[in-house]
Amino acid sequence: MPVKTIIEPFRIKSVEPIRSTTRVERERLIEAAGCNLFAVPADAILIDLLTDSGTGAMSTAQWAAVMRGDESYAGSPSFTRFRESVQAIFGFRHVIPTHQGRAAERILFSVMCKRGDVVPNNTHFDTTRANCEFVGAEAVDLPIAEAAEPEHILPFKGNMDVARLEQLIEKTGRERVPLVMLTVTNNSGGGQPVSMENIRAVKAVCRKHRIPLYLDACRFAENAYFIKTREPGHADRSPREIAQEMFSYADGCTMSAKKDGLANIGGFLCTNDDSLARQEENLLILTEGFPTYGGLAGRDLEAIAVGLNEALEEDYLNYRIASTAYLGGHIARGGVPIVQPPGGHAIYIDARAFLPHIPREQFPGVALAVELYLEGGIRSCEIGTLMLGEHAKMDLVRLAIPRRTYTQSHIDYVVEIILEVFSRRERIRGLEITYEAPFLRHFTARFRRLVAKSA
Ligand code: F0G
Repeated sequence: MPVKTIIEPFRIKSVEPIRSTTRVERERLIEAAGCNLFAVPADAILIDLLTDSGTGAMSTAQWAAVMRGDESYAGSPSFTRFRESVQAIFGFRHVIPTHQGRAAERILFSVMCKRGDVVPNNTHFDTTRANCEFVGAEAVDLPIAEAAEPEHILPFKGNMDVARLEQLIEKTGRERVPLVMLTVTNNSGGGQPVSMENIRAVKAVCRKHRIPLYLDACRFAENAYFIKTREPGHADRSPREIAQEMFSYADGCTMSAKKDGLANIGGFLCTNDDSLARQEENLLILTEGFPTYGGLAGRDLEAIAVGLNEALEEDYLNYRIASTAYLGGHIARGGVPIVQPPGGHAIYIDARAFLPHIPREQFPGVALAVELYLEGGIRSCEIGTLMLGEHAKMDLVRLAIPRRTYTQSHIDYVVEIILEVFSRRERIRGLEITYEAPFLRHFTARFRRLVAKSA
């Protein structure tokens, strides 16, 4: 009989203590932070689910590779190993290293877009949108309609609405659409995957209009695993083969190696276009560095070269996707409203449904995130009215799971805390903003907690 228990496919060689705080301490810390979890010192956090970006644990093989890092300014063999590793999976002719994903985005949009252009995506991540808008282009999100319904269960809820893509290109004119992007998995849309069929359909539209297709590939391995387990015809293929096919439809990609590169820093930009690559490398030299290191140390390139392969290992992906679903399943069974089905890297709690008595202007997502910290020292991240302003279609609290970092008992603790907060949800109050920056306000905003009128 096959064994049912899915274990962490690693043992622990080096440990990092985490510190418990008292509720009184946390009350004081949250006041001092203006109720913004970005302003709470990380050593006062017990379980940090703020992001899955750069927070994963590296393997012994990665640490060994780090020691091999060659720090030559030009022509480092570490770059050669990095490029070979990327090309074997991604298949693109040009691989341009950057210090992280957003640097790849800035270079891509600076070279490919101008004022008045339109860039469609299933859903732009916030830095992708900001970099697109920074060069004067318009970032348009075209997710399928069901993506806006948290409780709607679909295997590939990250898909792009292909009919709307066609309409947008017809209306805008292909000369004003310099590229189409697909984010795999769709982070802002709940960490939901995109199917191979959808990638092919989007590619067909792009081919017809002669528009390049780029993948925002941050979580490509998780996406490949969802294709393997959910899409007919892929069950017997390796995640690596599936990833290779995904990239075969693209003309290039942006990548943050802080996610499925299993590294703490790094990213890259790929293209098959020689002329674009030259322009991109020139921009790279201006702000990131020479094209054989692009703002990274040789040791970082080595860690990524190994990490990309580990991220595609089947045992790892099976554990990874199962542990995210484990958290989602346990809190959903306790009645907590979440975006269904569970995503690859994170669980998203529907804060509007969790706290229906708190109006949007009083930031239900922030209120919930603050409570999770006060109750159990857990850090999460609001993705809603604070982050997206009036464009927010939902108020979500994201619990992003760092890769290979927490064990099942950590997750059991998180489940217990969330269910405890859920049981006293009627008593949670909203917040009022007291300071906000003109853009990307969620990083630095400050709040005052409102008290009940009758209290
Ligand atoms: N694209 C997606 C889909 C992302 O999720 C991120 C980062 C980026 C691009 C930018 O990459 O951080 O290396 O510059 N997402 C992190 C998160 C920050 O918490 O979701 P970066």
